[in-house]
Amino acid sequence: MGYMFTVRGNTVASIDGRTAIVVTQGERQLLPAEVPVTLMGKLPLEFKTLGFSTHSLFDALAMNAEDIGGASIMMTGVGTLLQNCTRCHAGYKIRGCPR
Ligand code: HEC
Repeated sequence: MGYMFTVRGNTVASIDGRTAIVVTQGERQLLPAEVPVTLMGKLPLEFKTLGFSTHSLFDALAMNAEDIGGASIMMTGVGTLLQNCTRCHAGYKIRGCPR
């Protein structure tokens, strides 16, 4: 039970095929800003993984820009990053609930 909640978060299927993450109106204002622990618990595992991986890809891109440079390395890094953006936006949306 707790395990499934950790993996799926607080989600419902949406008619457009995406997964809607159900949060309070207050929490809705916080996304995509600083995320408190109560809100963290509502996010599905894949969503968090995509979010953290996006942060580290940006860090890696910044380090490569400073240390190695090179247009092709930068383009590959940006391409990988944009796939994360698309995967998350295509798969999930945020839905506010009154509670
Ligand atoms: C882990 C999931 C996730 C990833 C990865 C992600 N986003 Fe988002 N993004 C969101 C969510 C959730 C919202 C808020 C959507 C909503 O308003 O319903 C959002 C909103 C946005 C918005 C609209 C902001 C606004 O104020 O209306 C932009 C622009 C955006 N994202 C760009 C990006 C870009 C560029 C990337 C990749 C570098 C990215 N996102 C990666 C989840 C993600």
